[in-house]
Amino acid sequence: MIIARTLNELHAAREALGPLGLVPTMGALHEGHLALVAAALAAGRPVAASIFVNPTQFGPKDDFKQYPRDEAGDLAKLEGAGCALVWLPSVEVMYPPHGATQIQVNGPAVHWEGASRPGHFAGVATVVAKLFGQVRPIAAYFGEKDWQQIQVVSRMVADLHLPVRIVPVPTVREHNGLAMSSRNAYLTANEHNAAPMLHAALTRAASNIVAGLEVAKTLHQARHEVAQAGIVPDYIALVHAETLEPIATLTHPARLIAAAKLGHVRLLDNIPIG
Ligand code: PAF
Repeated sequence: MIIARTLNELHAAREALGPLGLVPTMGALHEGHLALVAAALAAGRPVAASIFVNPTQFGPKDDFKQYPRDEAGDLAKLEGAGCALVWLPSVEVMYPPHGATQIQVNGPAVHWEGASRPGHFAGVATVVAKLFGQVRPIAAYFGEKDWQQIQVVSRMVADLHLPVRIVPVPTVREHNGLAMSSRNAYLTANEHNAAPMLHAALTRAASNIVAGLEVAKTLHQARHEVAQAGIVPDYIALVHAETLEPIATLTHPARLIAAAKLGHVRLLDNIPIG
């Protein structure tokens, strides 16, 4: 496995590999990330992963400094998973002095995480566009746990005619349903026991909506169930799966999405519906 830390090292490695798939990450890798690498390898091309904790997608109250970092552990996992190349840029390489370009996606970036975390998706879109320019993958693999992020990146790729295919990969869950996330490492043992309630509430709400129960009442009930478990819901919403606009009745394609605070951790989850 080649480790590139400068653009020159990346370009040299990149040329030798030919068409490849990219798994962009912020490190602190778990089984969800390894499922992205497995999906990329299944396409029969070499796989590059990037590890970069992107400061521009964290707000002033977010956990940039505390975000878990484990470079040695991550590299061992990526090597074991069969990655051919790891791109480890520094902040100075990613954001050189005099940089003056930011990508602002509207549409699917406006509501939900976009509203709760101003500037977050501009940070994500900008760094993902830079990663695509640096690594030049023909396909890039993103976990469905961050459903809105996938729609934002897909919108950007379509709008800018970028020659890369965005491949969503299903969320990997713990045995109790909790979506895997690097931030789960911050949960205390008690919080870890309570956290799966978010997914349980979403699953119940999805079957009630499919069974014909009123959407607004069902979402209200789901928020109540989550709050009863000591989790503070930010939103639980039925949305158009691509535009992320809220919908009042079940039409297709739809997604149930949720964000909630448990202790210091922001939990995100979503499931398909109907
Ligand atoms: O999902 C993530 O880990 C990050 O948002 C990404 C796509 C690597 C961009 O920093």
